[in-house]
Amino acid sequence: MTYPEGYTAAVVGAASGIGRAVAERLARAGVRVACLDRHDPAEVAAGIGGGAVAQALDITDAAACERTIGGLWTRFGKLDALVNCAGVVGRTNIISEDVDHDDFETVVRINLTGALFLSQPALRRMRETGYGRILHVASIAGKEGNAGMAAYSASKAGLIGLVKVMGKEYAESGVTVNALSPAVIRTPMVAALPDAQVKYMTDKIPMKRCGELDEAAAMIGWIVSPECGFTTGFTFDMTGGRAVY
Ligand SMILES: NC(=O)c1ccc[n+]([C@@H]2O[C@H](COP(=O)([O-])OP(=O)(O)OC[C@H]3O[C@@H](n4cnc5c(N)ncnc54)[C@H](O)[C@@H]3O)[C@@H](O)[C@H]2O)c1
Repeated sequence: MTYPEGYTAAVVGAASGIGRAVAERLARAGVRVACLDRHDPAEVAAGIGGGAVAQALDITDAAACERTIGGLWTRFGKLDALVNCAGVVGRTNIISEDVDHDDFETVVRINLTGALFLSQPALRRMRETGYGRILHVASIAGKEGNAGMAAYSASKAGLIGLVKVMGKEYAESGVTVNALSPAVIRTPMVAALPDAQVKYMTDKIPMKRCGELDEAAAMIGWIVSPECGFTTGFTFDMTGGRAVY
């Protein structure tokens, strides 16, 4: 994948998993990358080189999102792409009648409200410059609903809806807003889930395997490139054949 000279991207959730893989891949392709995460992503940024910068950011803090995106604009002169890989699973293996209210609100606050807080300062500035690529990582759980994962599934379904709205609202501005809906990708987040939950998810995948980090990073890298110009508001599939719509 090639990008125009001076292409810039902010990757949120860059300290781990899919976000880290995306940051590394974009940097290898010559993109100037800002690594953002609530856990200081300095080590990741230092590892990928290429002028990558790192900053701690909690996306549930709207003022911090505004300051951080604004600061990157000043530093880079623009921001071509925003990739949001920040997310949490919350408590799992719990049927809806037993869902803990605090846990539900925490998961929604990060996976859905945080995506709004993060998008707003980027959308405003990208609209003014007439170009932008925003990609939020949702989940197959948001399309299908995973039993025992009410908060996670609901938050990702909400995120898919938010992306549809933003895609339509900014369709004439040069800014695209899309989502990616993976099934199980082999990351630390998956490693932390109970075996029964992982088996429940991979059993439903026709390819009968997890997706790989490189596969996710490659797809995201293309979605946030100038080449992916005629698709917006869409949720790209990455499920080994589980979702075919
Ligand atoms: N791994 C999978 O199989 C899979 C499948 C479908 C969807 N997803 C989604 O992909 C995204 C990345 O998942 P992953 O597996 O790489 O997880 P991960 O836990 O490895 O990485 C998630 C990152 O998000 C960061 N983060 C969490 N809350 C944050 C906040 N409030 N502000 C800023 N950063 C925050 C974490 O610090 C972490 O570095 C998540 O949204 C997840 O829901 C993952």
